[in-house]
Amino acid sequence: MNENFFRKNNAEVAAVYRGKTVLVTGHTGFKGGWLSLWLTQLGARVIGYALDPPSTPNLFDAIGLQEKITHILGDVRDYDHLLSIFHLDQPEMVFHLAAQPLVRLSYQDPRGTYETNIMGTVNVLEAVRHTPSVRVVVNVTSDKCYENREWVWGYREQDPMGGRDPYSSSKGCCELVTAAYLRSFFPPEQYGKTHGMALASARAGNVIGGGDWGKDRLVPDCVRALSRKEEIVLRYPQSIRPWQHVLEPLGGYLLLGAGLWQDGLRYVGSWNFGPSDNDVWTVEEVVREIIRLWGQGSYRVESDGHPHEAHWLKLDWSKARVHLGWHTWYNIQAALSLSIDWYRLFYAGDSKEELYRRTADQIALYMAEKDRGV
Ligand SMILES: NC(=O)c1ccc[n+]([C@@H]2O[C@H](COP(=O)([O-])OP(=O)(O)OC[C@H]3O[C@@H](n4cnc5c(N)ncnc54)[C@H](O)[C@@H]3O)[C@@H](O)[C@H]2O)c1
Repeated sequence: MNENFFRKNNAEVAAVYRGKTVLVTGHTGFKGGWLSLWLTQLGARVIGYALDPPSTPNLFDAIGLQEKITHILGDVRDYDHLLSIFHLDQPEMVFHLAAQPLVRLSYQDPRGTYETNIMGTVNVLEAVRHTPSVRVVVNVTSDKCYENREWVWGYREQDPMGGRDPYSSSKGCCELVTAAYLRSFFPPEQYGKTHGMALASARAGNVIGGGDWGKDRLVPDCVRALSRKEEIVLRYPQSIRPWQHVLEPLGGYLLLGAGLWQDGLRYVGSWNFGPSDNDVWTVEEVVREIIRLWGQGSYRVESDGHPHEAHWLKLDWSKARVHLGWHTWYNIQAALSLSIDWYRLFYAGDSKEELYRRTADQIALYMAEKDRGV
């Protein structure tokens, strides 16, 4: 790996964000919370726009994020309100993460899922279109945006969009919307001539890390059960997922955002951020490792009657490796270990300040390890 290239970019990334006004939608959620905190550490002024945290407990309250950023309670389906915030705060960069992100909930509420994920994205892009201060947008979608062929190869950025369930197809639609906005309103061939807006989408797989209490997600489900001394229930023990620590794709989004800021033309378009092949574990392997790290616990399999979920899902992230110098730093054991450490602190009743400090420490450690090329 070309470590020097990556190290150089790490410093460049920090320089890009320092002093910038960055709007993050979905900052009360798991990934948006980590990203907002990371951006403040890089010296950005963060404006968060989202509904209330999606779970109790949640990262946003656990680390007292409200005191560190400008917190705006708002719905991405409410275009007028969203636009008024863009006009008021004049962001220079936007990371769009607000979404209904759960496959199973999307079966129960397809309409709400499509409204939030698709029209929410349209509204964000419309607000961007009418706010000239914005020069960079990273739209966060999902690895589930691809037409899943249940094959062993990783999906590439140019593979067809699809999605069998409402959530996955909504993310495929978000990608199509983003591509249409790029071509219609921010065409790359006109970049630097008639407009200065660089738009990209980021597709990552399942992420794990402290502070996620999302429903029907493996690590939160395990931690919830373990903290109550209950048995963990597995739905698809043999499902393969590309696991990675939350800081990995977020680091990719930051790198991408910085690239878009510095050289928009080169970085517009779609990007995969996935783990290495070694970190593609089955659900059962992950649960065994979590139980080992926690120190005790057990699980049982209940696989009947659950709605369809994709079994094979892998990303090919060669583009991010070659053009952004991005790759993952933590293997799955390290990612699980950091996550379980975080949850342990939480369940031990550590204070908001202590959890904030430890969360910030995990970000600082991640950046330091990248700097050292560990
Ligand atoms: N967590 C994962 O493993 C994963 C994997 C792939 C993609 N993603 C994507 O990453 C993004 C963030 O996911 P997450 O895991 O942090 O989810 P999350 O549920 O923890 O957070 C979702 C955020 O969106 C906000 N939100 C929901 N509906 C909204 C609305 N109508 N208006 C404004 N805000 C609204 C919530 O308040 C919250 O801040 C999503 O776009 C998701 O699809 C997540």
